[in-house]
This record gives sequence, C-alpha cells and structure tokens, in this order.
Amino acid sequence: EQSQQIAQTLSEFRLTTEQLLEVKKRMRTEIQNGLSRSTQDSATVKMLPTFVRSTPDGTENGDFLALDLGGTNFRVLLVKIRSGKRTSVDMHNKIYAIPLEVMQGTGEELFDHIVQCISDFLDYMGMKNARLPLGFTFSFPCRQTSLDAGILMTWTKGFKATDCEGEDVVGLLREAIKRREEFDLDVVAVVNDTVGTMMTCAFEEPTCEIGLIAGTGSNACYMEEMRNIEMIEGDEGQMCVNMEWGAFGDNGCLDDIRTEYDRAVDEFSLNPGKQSYEKMCSGMYLGEIVRNILIDLTKRGFLFRGQISETLKTRGIFETKFLSQIESDRLALLQVRSILQHLGLDSTCDDSIIVKEVCGAVSHRAAQLCGAGMAAVVDKIRENRGLEHLDITVGVDGTLYKLHPHFSGVMHQTVKELAPQCDVNFLLSEDGSGKGAALITAVGCRLRQELN
Ligand code: BG6
Ligand code: GLC
Repeated sequence: EQSQQIAQTLSEFRLTTEQLLEVKKRMRTEIQNGLSRSTQDSATVKMLPTFVRSTPDGTENGDFLALDLGGTNFRVLLVKIRSGKRTSVDMHNKIYAIPLEVMQGTGEELFDHIVQCISDFLDYMGMKNARLPLGFTFSFPCRQTSLDAGILMTWTKGFKATDCEGEDVVGLLREAIKRREEFDLDVVAVVNDTVGTMMTCAFEEPTCEIGLIAGTGSNACYMEEMRNIEMIEGDEGQMCVNMEWGAFGDNGCLDDIRTEYDRAVDEFSLNPGKQSYEKMCSGMYLGEIVRNILIDLTKRGFLFRGQISETLKTRGIFETKFLSQIESDRLALLQVRSILQHLGLDSTCDDSIIVKEVCGAVSHRAAQLCGAGMAAVVDKIRENRGLEHLDITVGVDGTLYKLHPHFSGVMHQTVKELAPQCDVNFLLSEDGSGKGAALITAVGCRLRQELN
C-alpha cells in the first residue's frame, strides 16, 4: 500500500514516448519562434546569433588568454595554438573560487574579482606585459551584435550580481581592467560555453556542428543556415546559434508535464518563472527536486520515520556528485546509507532504497527531456539540408553528463528513438570550452587584421 503510493508519486516522472515526441515537437515550434522576425520578441527560446560563422579549419594560430565563467569552476587559461601540418594546442590553466557574496554582490565587485584572478594568473605565468588577445567564455544569455559585444539579457543559475543585466559584459570587463591600471588585454570575443564546447570538439572532429551542456545549467547551440536567422542580414553560409533552450517552457508550454515538486523548486529559486526546462534537466536543480519529493514522502510518513530533519530542509544538499554516487550500480545499499549519513540524513535500509528510486526517477526524466530537445535540433538540421538521413556529431560537456552513471546513456537512447533519421555521435569535450574560445579568438584576430 505504502509502496503503491510511492510508485504513484514517482509515476508522474515517467514520460511516455508520446509525451516525449510532444516535447520534441514543442521545442521545434519554439526554435522556429526564436528564429523568425515576427515572433522573435516574445519567443522564450531566444536562438541568439553568436557571430561564429564556421568551425575550426586548422589555420588558427597564436597565444591567447581565455576566461571561463559560469560553470562549476571559474578558470583562467593560456592557450597556445600552433598551426602547421598538424595543428597543436598547448594549455595552462588555473581554477579560482568565486565566493557566493561575489556571485550575488555588485557587478563591479564581480568584474574586479575576475580581473584580480587574471592578474594572479599573469603573475603565475610571468606574462604581465604581453597584451594578449582574450576570449571570454561567459555562460549566460547574451544578445550579441558582434563577436566582441554581448549584452547580458538575464542572469541564470546561481549568479545575481547587480548592474550587469542590460549591459555589455565585454565593456564591463574592459572597464574593470582599466580600473586596475596594471595590465592591458585585448578582449576579442565573448563566447557561450555551448559554443566553446562545440568548437573544442570540432577541432578534433569536423562533423561536430552542435554543442551541448548538461551541467550546472542546460543548453545547446548548433550551426544554423544564415537564411533562417531572420535577425541577421545576409543569406549565405551559416552561423552558430546559442539556443538558450533552458528557457523552454517559460510560456507555460511544458506545464502539463511539470509536477508540484518542479513548481516548488522554481518558487524558491533565484529566478522564479524562468528557465523551466533547465530546472527539470540540469545539475543545479535535480537535487532540489529530489529533496522536495523526499520532504513530501517524509510528511506522508513513508521515509525517515516521518521526521523532517534540519538537513532535509537545507537547500542545495544534493549536489550532482551525490546523486551520481547514490545512483551508481556498483554501490551497495549500505554505501548509499553512508552517503546519506554523510549528508546528515539518518536512514534505514528501506529509506535508502526509496531515496535511490527517487533519484532514479528524477534523473531519468531529465535525461529523456534533454534527449527530446536534442532530437528536435538534429531533425531541424536534417531538414535544413533536405536530407533523408543525417550523420552528425554533438560536442558535450558538463558535470551531469560526465559524472552521472545513467544520464548520458538514457539521453543517447532517447535521441535515437525520437530522431530515427539521424545518426548522432556524442563526443565528450576533454578540454572544456576555454580551448574553443581561444580558437574563436584566433579567427577574430585574423578577421580584424584583414579588415585593417
Ligand atoms: C566546462 C566548460 O567544461 O563545462 C564550462 O569549460 C561549462 O564553461 C561547463 O560551463 C559546464 O559544466 P558544469 O557542470 O561545470 O556547469
Ligand atoms: C544556462 C545559461 C546558458 C549556459 C547554460 C549551461 O542555461 O543561461 O548560457 O549555456 O546554463 O552552462
């Protein structure tokens, strides 16, 4: 009886193939809305032009700095690209912490902190006097008017610094560099992490024309035909579009599959009403959905002897790495209990079985939803090219994809089922998006020289 009620609760997370096909279809509609001039202003999936017009061709060359802001880690990198018979890339990087009070303080503090980290890195590398070109991976929605200008539309994930929304983040970075009066840099490109990841992977594998992040946040980019991007002049060739698909569902189009737990997570997030799809698919929120289900099951007396502990009331306790551990098949239930213990949750053996089931239901749905979105993208590209069959590679990065034992498999399977006319190869990015940002910067520098 009790187990039936638990099963009933979790059944809301089990999506049928029909439902997933419907999600794919709705994503396709939103893609169209984002690309078309007439519907663009009200579109939820923004389909942002990136001014990246091709994947790497092997002629990129030079030394570049890259910043990588917006994922689990903030990094500063030095990327040395040497073109030749076989192009080689040499990278050095350092990870820096961004304290919560800086993520959610003033914009000036945030950018001063970033420049402080660059300063430390340049000292570390002994390169303070070089005036290097820099590529800025900034993993948030930006309205770009060129490769080196991007207006932050809205913060997402855990960031909330004041006075940045509506501003050009390249300008904010340049001003912070000036304020410091210590070194000079040439900011050449602002790059979304999806785009950096696609470029990193395309460097190894030229069929890579899609970038996917399943990490703290969820998003994708792909090479779209210029003729379909109505906001940009010109019909020739292609341009990479940063979809910002995390906002899918913000117009209510996914309400029929959202649960009360999804709504609770949204309500207490930094950005209520925004990033609906991301909140069902990405690492920053899956643990919160799990926690909300556990609280409900405990209230109903099915878990933890009906006692809601302080720990269970704490937001953010279930990070991606814990979910990944709990769901690992190699783990005995005793070990699941010890992870829960470590989080401060006293569990019985039965509790640990239920917790594992809850985690499984939530992550399975996330992978399927992500797969449904990707199925819409690959079919769009296939149709763009008038093909019966498409072979394509997706460059992927993100902690959820990398750490979770089942997410990637379920996602791949879903794409296969929902887009049977496409053969989709997923390529894990080994070097992060900083390398891709440097490759984009290299092209940006060359184009600028050609213009002068
Ligand atoms: C990294 C990229 O490899 O993947 C980051 O370099 C990106 O820019 C990240 O944001 C996504 O993963 P996560 O899980 O750290 O958000
Ligand atoms: C969020 C950001 C997006 C980024 C994604 C993955 O959705 O808005 O720009 O690509 O997270 O990091």
